[in-house]
Amino acid sequence: MAFLIASSSRAEEFAAFARDLDPALDVRVAPNLGKAEEIEYALAWQPPNGLLKTLPNLRLIVSVGAGVDALLADPDLPHVPMVRFVDADLTGRMTEYVALHVLYHHRRMSEFGELQRRKVWKYLAEPAAHEVRVGLMGLGVLGSAAARALGVFGYQVRGWSRSPKSLQGVACYAGPGELDAFLADTDILAVLLPLTPDTHGILDRRLLAKLSRRGRDARLPGPVLINAGRGGLQVDADIAASLAAGELYAASLDVFEAEPLPHSSPLWSHPRVVVTPHNAAESAPAAIVRYALRQIAALRRGEPLQNLVDRGRGY
Ligand code: NAP
Ligand code: GLV
Repeated sequence: MAFLIASSSRAEEFAAFARDLDPALDVRVAPNLGKAEEIEYALAWQPPNGLLKTLPNLRLIVSVGAGVDALLADPDLPHVPMVRFVDADLTGRMTEYVALHVLYHHRRMSEFGELQRRKVWKYLAEPAAHEVRVGLMGLGVLGSAAARALGVFGYQVRGWSRSPKSLQGVACYAGPGELDAFLADTDILAVLLPLTPDTHGILDRRLLAKLSRRGRDARLPGPVLINAGRGGLQVDADIAASLAAGELYAASLDVFEAEPLPHSSPLWSHPRVVVTPHNAAESAPAAIVRYALRQIAALRRGEPLQNLVDRGRGY
């Protein structure tokens, strides 16, 4: 049996870790497949469409990413079990990202940064965390971990998911029918949804306009968007328009419709927008390879796989 690394980035690094961890393993790196029929397992990140279909004895696909939208976009993806990456290392990094950016906007750091550049000593009103409502779109592995961390600061945490949830300290909303109520109950929106046909383009101007605007009671100057899910969830031009119209106060965006973000995007230069290069939670290659080998071992022992992707749901 052979293990194929089919990854658009860090492939040789993954292969080196795999050989190190299991010297007996026959590790191959695409596009050098060798005898394709010997390959039973693949670790994949954005492989060329159709590549995995050429492996007649493939038994398992391990996604390098937590998100599997790119893999599912392959019209020729073989019908073998696929597991996505779930790991404490990745979850920890995403929790840091969400907490960092919630705190950054809540404590008005973009404005303090601008004042510092102008050498202006000025107080700005900052509410206490317990006066700020943070809404998480997506209450899965990453969203629920972020919710727990935000609760420690004292934020009022809300969450929205596809199926109803019950999480301690989180006001939970579910499904399209409760989306508007969730948005009206949210000052800072942090998005950790997967990209699926149902969520594609969900973050448009209409949705952003539904975020809480408490008028005279406003604790923050306006609603804030943090998106670390996928770029396909958002309409970049709508975010820019919402910012320009004052409907959105600030944003932190780790993902974009087109990556890298084109130089022409106004999001690069907005004073209250933080742009990061899809690195909110880049996981350590060693953790990914260890995870893949654990899943392969489970399959070979006939044990259940973890974090199986449900192709019907799209995540
Ligand atoms: P997960 O455990 O599968 O959780 C997904 C959450 O989204 C679940 O709560 C799910 O609801 C909810 N959801 C899915 N479709 C929905 C819909 N149509 N309406 C409402 N809620 C919906 O995934 P995860 O591990 O937390 O990861 C989330 C995403 O983060 C990944 O798919 C990936 O795109 C992104 N990500 C980004 C980075 C980065 O560096 N920027 C790194 C890792 C992951 P249910 O609970 O009801 O199923
Ligand atoms: C990164 O974007 C991932 O899906 O893990």
